[in-house]
Amino acid sequence: MPTAIDLFEKARRHERLEQLRAAREHDLMPYFRVVEAEPGPVALMEGRERITLGSNNYLGLTGDSRVKAAAREALDHYGTGLTGSRFMNGTTPLHLELERELADWMGTEDALVYTTGYLANVGAIGTLLGPGDTVVCDSGDHASILDAVALSRARVRPFRHNRLDKLETMLSRAESDGGGVLVVVDGLFSMEGDLSPLPDVTALCREHGARLMVDEAHGVGVLGERGTGASELLDCEDEVDLRMGTFSKSLASCGGFIAGPHDVIDFLRVQSRAFMFTAAAVPAATGAALGALRIIRSDEGAELRAKVLDNARYLHDGLAALGYGVMEPNELPDGSGLITPIVPVLVGDDWKAVLLWKALYDAGVYVNVAIYPAVQRGGALLRTSVMATHEREHLDRALSIFDRVKGEVEAMTAPDVG
Ligand SMILES: Cc1ncc(COP(=O)(O)O)c(C=O)c1O
Repeated sequence: MPTAIDLFEKARRHERLEQLRAAREHDLMPYFRVVEAEPGPVALMEGRERITLGSNNYLGLTGDSRVKAAAREALDHYGTGLTGSRFMNGTTPLHLELERELADWMGTEDALVYTTGYLANVGAIGTLLGPGDTVVCDSGDHASILDAVALSRARVRPFRHNRLDKLETMLSRAESDGGGVLVVVDGLFSMEGDLSPLPDVTALCREHGARLMVDEAHGVGVLGERGTGASELLDCEDEVDLRMGTFSKSLASCGGFIAGPHDVIDFLRVQSRAFMFTAAAVPAATGAALGALRIIRSDEGAELRAKVLDNARYLHDGLAALGYGVMEPNELPDGSGLITPIVPVLVGDDWKAVLLWKALYDAGVYVNVAIYPAVQRGGALLRTSVMATHEREHLDRALSIFDRVKGEVEAMTAPDVG
């Protein structure tokens, strides 16, 4: 008796595939655009130079000659690949140095390097938690956290994005679940560019006896005086139990890490399947991350941070002046407002966001589009982001293009784009 459902047929009829076909047919496909040269502040994409406002290369270090030299040295010394996991035959002195320097930078006892940030989340969360435990996560948490949570088979108690009252409710309920409790939040949320209210989150975790893990993927390199992320910026490093970071953004490479107490990191070393059963990153990636980390920790790193945050403010204010919908600045404990390098343009409707993206792309500005399910339904946005290496001239040119296309898209669609 054949099975009732053909899985390929199910895939062929999926709503997502329909959307993909429609976007391709109308040349409105915002994803998989081809980058043909170094992704600097201006990048060659599909035969034309476009201002890059759609990258996580916040400090612009992917093109830095010292980072490239570090990658090249690692490649020359160790070859193109390690052909095995960190556990078996994929650990080099570079990994050990990197782990030591990451732990020193983060101010933790130890750190563990994974092949990607996705695997770091899956490896840490999926290993620490098991059936019987509870995980409390923000609804805006990154997909890798949500996948890790599913893998762990722990009880999930999600709370509405950045709502401390809902977090508290979930923590109270978790007390009677009977297992260990882990709260996981992004320090800096990747789509809206807003910060988790970490001082309050840490206080609630302490009150309810829960452990806290912060995903610092977008904060590392950019936030705090040492550039270690939102936990440092918001002055609660000591209250955060585990910090996750990635090399795929400011650290100009590919890979990820977990930083925390030595015994917990050692437990992950011997128990985390996402660490033990996947190949170590190619040596060039590890070399590049180490090279970038050393720049980030130097005085030059502080200058790059100041520059990227200044650029973020400039773009945010420019977009607001043009009438685009932008987020309010993040309020810091000292009362000042911070615009992070992620500067979303709030649009609402999915297709309107895609039309706006296309008009910008055709005019020479590349941004990212976030539509459901990356954001809430009706919460489509253009995710723009800046680099330390953007000059004013790039941002002014981008803003004048934003100005020009606004009218065009409004004429094509309903009331307003902002
Ligand atoms: C918040 C967050 N966490 C984790 C990841 C995964 O990192 P990686 O790209 O290194 O796999 C990302 C990157 O997309 C991210 O934005």
